[in-house]
Amino acid sequence: MKFRVLASLFVSALFFVSVNAQETTNDDIAQRIKPVGKVHVAGAAPAAAVGPRTGKQIYDGACVACHTSGVLGAPKLQVAADWQPRLDQKGFDQVWKNAITGINAMPAMGTCGDCSDDDIKAAIEYMIEGI
Ligand code: HEC
Repeated sequence: MKFRVLASLFVSALFFVSVNAQETTNDDIAQRIKPVGKVHVAGAAPAAAVGPRTGKQIYDGACVACHTSGVLGAPKLQVAADWQPRLDQKGFDQVWKNAITGINAMPAMGTCGDCSDDDIKAAIEYMIEGI
């Protein structure tokens, strides 16, 4: 009787250990197959885990450093006097294109290394919101 109890304890212990071992293995596999080489540009916002980012999120991550205080003459966030002349002279599409390729002290893609062209567009739309 005593042996049986011990034996069944032993078996359940084995079972427990093997279940645990399986969990560890799954974790290890998840670790091994997760995507590598996520590039992070210093100062840029980390990519959101799910869904596309909003213009505000992109602005807060990549553009805020220059466009809040107007560093090097950058047009300031939602300041019509800074944006309207640019929009009048060039039109939105040209202003958008210049943000993608860079213009004068404005770096290409506004330093947002993982932004798509549409992300840049969303960030600009946020910057000129209400103008
Ligand atoms: C290192 C500073 C810096 C960062 C970061 C930056 N900008 Fe700029 N940006 C500038 C400066 C300076 C100008 C003015 C360039 C000029 O017209 O001489 C500018 C101008 C612009 C313009 C107007 C372009 C035109 O044709 O008039 C847009 C649009 C723009 N930035 C978008 C962005 C977006 C979107 C981001 C973030 C994803 C961003 N910028 C990040 C410095 C910056």
